[in-house]
Amino acid sequence: VSLARSERTRLVTVTGPGGVGKTRLVLEVARRVAGDFPGGVVFVPLAAVSDTALVLSTVADALGARREATADVLEAVRATIGDERTLLVLDNFEQVTAAAPDVAALLSLAPALVVLVTSRQVLRIRSEQQVHLGPLPDDAAMRLFADRAAASRAGFVVDDTNSAAIAEICRRLDGLPLAIELAAARIRLLPPDAMLARLRDRLDVLGSGPVDLPARQRTLRATMDWSYGLLPPPEQSLLARLAVFSGGWTLAAAEAVCGRPTGPPTIDTLSALLDDSLLVPAGGTPQEPRLDMLETVRDYAAEKLAGSDDDIETGRRHTEWVLAMFDPAVHFRAAEFRPALDRFNAERSNVRAAVQRSVDAGERDVAARLIRNTLGFMARR
Ligand SMILES: Nc1ncnc2c1ncn2[C@@H]1O[C@H](COP(=O)(O)OP(=O)(O)OP(=O)(O)O)[C@@H](O)[C@H]1O
Ligand SMILES: [Mg+2]
Repeated sequence: VSLARSERTRLVTVTGPGGVGKTRLVLEVARRVAGDFPGGVVFVPLAAVSDTALVLSTVADALGARREATADVLEAVRATIGDERTLLVLDNFEQVTAAAPDVAALLSLAPALVVLVTSRQVLRIRSEQQVHLGPLPDDAAMRLFADRAAASRAGFVVDDTNSAAIAEICRRLDGLPLAIELAAARIRLLPPDAMLARLRDRLDVLGSGPVDLPARQRTLRATMDWSYGLLPPPEQSLLARLAVFSGGWTLAAAEAVCGRPTGPPTIDTLSALLDDSLLVPAGGTPQEPRLDMLETVRDYAAEKLAGSDDDIETGRRHTEWVLAMFDPAVHFRAAEFRPALDRFNAERSNVRAAVQRSVDAGERDVAARLIRNTLGFMARR
């Protein structure tokens, strides 16, 4: 917090392995220092941006910079910021590390700008100050486990009979918050002793596994394998399919894209995954709540999807869902335009993901249809 407030700070990069709490930390810092930034605090999730060339324009959009198609994006951003202190939060920069020079350029052009980044690696820019986020201290790790376990099984408490096992579980999980959450969510099925025994098997096996991954990443990977392995098959396949979404989804979207005629209803499987901490609530409206996955979980789920025979079908259904949602005819029906525009704004990352997928697959006419159906919204937002 004091680093973000300091007049001399220009760029702070919070680094650390997946699931260590980088996003949570910067959101909390941003909330606390908001008052010091009259120009505002702007949060830009970059997880869905895979093309480094799009980083600047994503930032410009998030800032609400007005720009003509031909205008210089950097200049538009500079003009929007002006000389009011503004905090820009760039989340998951590791996706787009090659865009670091763009951040450097922004910083030198806009002296009122302070940038807070989360990334698994540093950006290597001159004014950068790095904050490396390590594991949770033992007592905080125990508290996190206790909280999450109590949320999963009412009445769960840490006492003399289980505290040694829980301390050992947290230690085995390297104090990694995401790993602890995934484990604690299983308390209904596995009391601490049994959980420790199973985790030990997993982690010991992995201890002799690939050594090219840093230790903590291996621990998280093993914990995810463990958590995934405990899921019944319909939950495993739904989790994998949900990786097609970008920026979250609604229940209706999950049903349309990931539902299959056989097996349990999608809504039941979704709530089971939510209970297991594999999904997280992600805003939306009370009528239409949204769900999402933490980035590390999505990477894992995407791997499972890519390795399954469901990959192409799920991608195709995601694209069809986007196409169906943005029928170009709504531009001529006044009453439908506003709701469609709101929907477009909520689903922008999904639209982008569908366009990217069709471009990658060389499906030029699908890409063209997607762009044709959504162009009107892009121009109007
Ligand atoms: N200090 C903490 N206390 C309690 N929960 C925490 C703490 N730090 C992180 N968490 C929880 O751990 C999970 C992972 O945190 P977060 O998403 O911030 O990790 P991350 O480092 O941003 O991961 P990624 O690299 O995948 O983006 C979240 O559910 C978060 O709420
Ligand atoms: Mg994060």
